[in-house]
This record gives sequence, structure tokens and C-alpha cells, in this order.
Amino acid sequence: MAKRLYIKTYGCQMNVYDSQRMADVLAPLGYRLTETAQGADMVILNTCHIREKAAEKVFSELGRLKRLKPADRAADSPGPLLAVAGCVAQAEGAEILRRAPQVDIVFGPQAYHRLPEMVARAVRQGGGVLETDFPADSKFDHLPAQSESPGPSAFLSVQEGCDKFCTFCVVPYTRGAEFSRPVADVVREAEGLLRAGSREITLLGQNVNAYHGEGPDGRTWGLGRLIRRLAEIDGLARLRYTTSHPRDMDEDLIAAHGEVPALMPYLHLPVQSGADDILQAMNRRHTAADYLKVVEALRQKAPNIALSSDFIVGFPGEGNGEFAATLRLVAEVDYAQAYSFKYSPRPGTPAAAEDEQVPEEIKAERLAMLQDLLNAQQLAFNHRTKGQVLSVLFDRPGRRPDQLVGRSPYMQAVHVAAPAVTAERIMGQILPVRIEEAHANSLAGSVELPLAADPVVSGPRPVDARSFAGQSL
Ligand code: SAH
Ligand code: SF4
Ligand code: F3S
Repeated sequence: MAKRLYIKTYGCQMNVYDSQRMADVLAPLGYRLTETAQGADMVILNTCHIREKAAEKVFSELGRLKRLKPADRAADSPGPLLAVAGCVAQAEGAEILRRAPQVDIVFGPQAYHRLPEMVARAVRQGGGVLETDFPADSKFDHLPAQSESPGPSAFLSVQEGCDKFCTFCVVPYTRGAEFSRPVADVVREAEGLLRAGSREITLLGQNVNAYHGEGPDGRTWGLGRLIRRLAEIDGLARLRYTTSHPRDMDEDLIAAHGEVPALMPYLHLPVQSGADDILQAMNRRHTAADYLKVVEALRQKAPNIALSSDFIVGFPGEGNGEFAATLRLVAEVDYAQAYSFKYSPRPGTPAAAEDEQVPEEIKAERLAMLQDLLNAQQLAFNHRTKGQVLSVLFDRPGRRPDQLVGRSPYMQAVHVAAPAVTAERIMGQILPVRIEEAHANSLAGSVELPLAADPVVSGPRPVDARSFAGQSL
């Protein structure tokens, strides 16, 4: 009988990718994914350590899961195997087993190819399995093919880890040193995803544009070159990549935005702050002007590119002047979307030990101001797409039964009304949609019919006509 596996994923897209791969690794043991922890034979929490609240959430979830396990490990029914994976597992390690003795297995982000062996050991010895050393062998060399359908839009990790050591960030400690997968590996996995029905692939890495994988010619390839190679694969309509560091936006990658039609006109390019002294204290190793230069170069190559970013407010030493510089940078760039956070001191990171911590209420005030500005920009951006025809990749059902949701080239969620029969036919397709409504976080419109093989796309911002080709309802 199939065993039920429940995985709860926190944090970034790399964790989403890792959770899928954990399911692949466990599939040969008879585990199939299920929607709830209740009744599962194994529960994995794939955790995130990036901010304080992220780790807290894990411990409260572990508290809730306790009721699934009998207090006595020798009881007749031992309850599900309970595992903690991901970045909290890497950072806290044995501390988790001490604080939450109901946990059977704790393993880090680089060790999940060893799950079958860890499961066997946990069953044999009744829990207490800890695997948080960075293994010498790469998990990517041991992963089986996808066990579940990847869906219309798939993630593909090409790079892992980080060598940049920004002073606020735990990632270099939880994910380890930078590593890039060889080009041939990435191409093989991409081809598999497309065969399984994906139309869009998002290349993932903590520093994805620091990618420097071994090419088939024995040389080191950068991300721009990898993107050009992947774009040659038949059936790949859309490519994205995330997350990028401004310092690694090299000329070839920037040029690819103007030259590779499958590369979507949307880029998440975190800047964190607009003040040079704060950027320096963060060890970002670029200035606000450097960042603006990259933005300008991107817009020169791809005038319709939409930008997104991450911001931290209340980094130690941030005064009103520094915060104002961040607002100025935001006003100058004009973002389509963004994420912003209050600085959260992380144990073991240099910034956490700084004297000049910013009081909580000032962080809250600045966050609200910044988010007001960013939200206004996002709403204005969404409004600018009203009346345009955008290509939309439909990838999920809407909240209402007669609704379907997809993504525009600019990552906006687009809702269309679709009766069940039509919905079945348009799921997984890329279709032109005329945008009729613009909201803060989504758009609504209707699929343009009839569909020409190569439709004329209206609006001031051209869209990827290529991805319409050959589509019909
Ligand atoms: N590699 C990416 C970021 C990965 S972490 C980059 O260099 O931009 C994702 C985001 O979480 C960061 O961009 C940052 O805005 C936020 N973040 C990371 N550590 C944080 C901390 N200690 N407090 C608040 N936000 C943080
Ligand atoms: Fe963290 Fe900086 Fe590395 Fe991004 S570049 S993962 S923020 S240390
Ligand atoms: Fe979180 Fe780890 Fe990703 S800390 S953001 S899950 S790399």
C-alpha cells in the first residue's frame, strides 16, 4: 500500500524545488504526496531561517504536530515519521531534537538525497537521526526523475549556496558554499520538465546569476550563455531566473534580455537599501548608483522589462537620511512589484552584533511608508497593462469554480472566467488575454478569440508573440 507523505514548505522557491525533489527521492520507497498531515505516514517540514518569524513558525507547527505522535515512543502505533528539513534544520541541528523530541529526523538542504537511508535508520533506532554536515557528494548527482507532474510552470535549481556573506543574512551558513550544476545536467532536467508538460521554467539559485557551470566544451558558462542554450530546446516558451545579485548582472546576461524572446521581461533584482553607507555595512559591495546603472542597461536592452526588488528597513545604523535615500531609489526605479522586510537580527551574523540597532517602532513606521510607495507603484504598473493584450500562461484554477488563473510575462496574476470545459482546454496553455481590470495584486481579463497563428499584440509594451504561436482553444 502506498504510504502517505506530507511536506509543508516554508521560505523561498528553492525550498519549493527541494520539497518536490524530496518527494521524488521517497517515491521508490512507496511514498505518495498527500494534502494534510492528518493520517500521513511521514511529515516533513521544509523550513526557512531567513527572518525570526520564519523559525518561530516551525516550532509552533512542531507543537501542533506533537498530537500526531504518542508520548511513549514504544507505543503500538508510533505515529508518522516526523522530519525537519531545510535552513532551520541546518542552523539549529541537534537543538531541534532537544527542543522537540517528537522529531525523528533532522537534515539540511544538501543532504536529502540520503533520505531513504535516514528513514531506515529512524525506523530502526526510533528517531534521533541528524544529518547536517555538508556532504562531499552533490545531491544533484543522486536525484531520480520527477515522480509528480511538474505543472505548466516549473522550477529548476541550477545554482546553490552563497559566498557573498551579506552581514544580515543566514543563507551562506545554511546553504553552504556556491555551487553550479554542469550545463548538460541542467539541459537534461529541462528537457524532462518539458516532456512532462511544462511550458515555463524558472531557473533557481540563491545567487542564480553567479552561475558558473561547466559547459559541454569544458569551459565555464555564465547564466546568459546557459539561458541561450536552454532557449534552443523545443517546447520551451518561457524562461525566468531568480534570485539575482546586482553585482553579477554581467554584460552577456543583460544582453540576453534583449535577444532571447523566451526570456520573460521581468527581473527580481534585490537592492535592500538606497543608501551607500548602509549598502557598505551590509557588505553588498555596490553603490546605489551601480544598481541604477544596471537598471538603465537592462532597460536599454529590454525597454519593457518590469523590475522587482527586496528591501530591508531598519538595518543597524539606518537613520532618517539613509531611509530617505531608499525612498528616492524606489521613486527613481519605479518597481512593478517588491518585497520589503523589517531587519531581523539573525544569530551568528555580523549585523546582529551591531550596537546601533533601530527600535522596533521606527522599523514599523519606515516599513509602512516604504510599502505605501511600493504598493502605489505596483497598482500604477498594473493599471498601465489595462487595455493591453498580454500572453498568459494558465497554471492554476481560481478560487471560484469557473475561474482560471495564469501569469502575464510580468508575473502578474491574471484571472479569466472559464466554464469547466474551456478551463480544461486552456490549462497549461499560453494565450493572449485582453486585460480589463487592474487591482493591487492581480489583473482580470478575457481570452482573445479567434486566435491567429501569429496575432498582432497591442499595447505600448510588446509581448512575446513567439509564445502564442501554434496555440488554439
Ligand atoms: N540572494 C538574494 C536574497 C536571498 S534572501 C540577494 O542577495 O538579494 C531573500 C531576502 O530576504 C533578501 O533579499 C532580504 O531582503 C531578506 N532578508 C534576508 N535576511 C534578512 C534579515 N536578517 N532581516 C530582514 N530581511 C532579510
Ligand atoms: Fe544572503 Fe547576501 Fe547571499 Fe543574498 S547575496 S543569499 S542576501 S548573503
Ligand atoms: Fe529561507 Fe533558506 Fe530560502 S533561509 S529563504 S529557505 S535559502
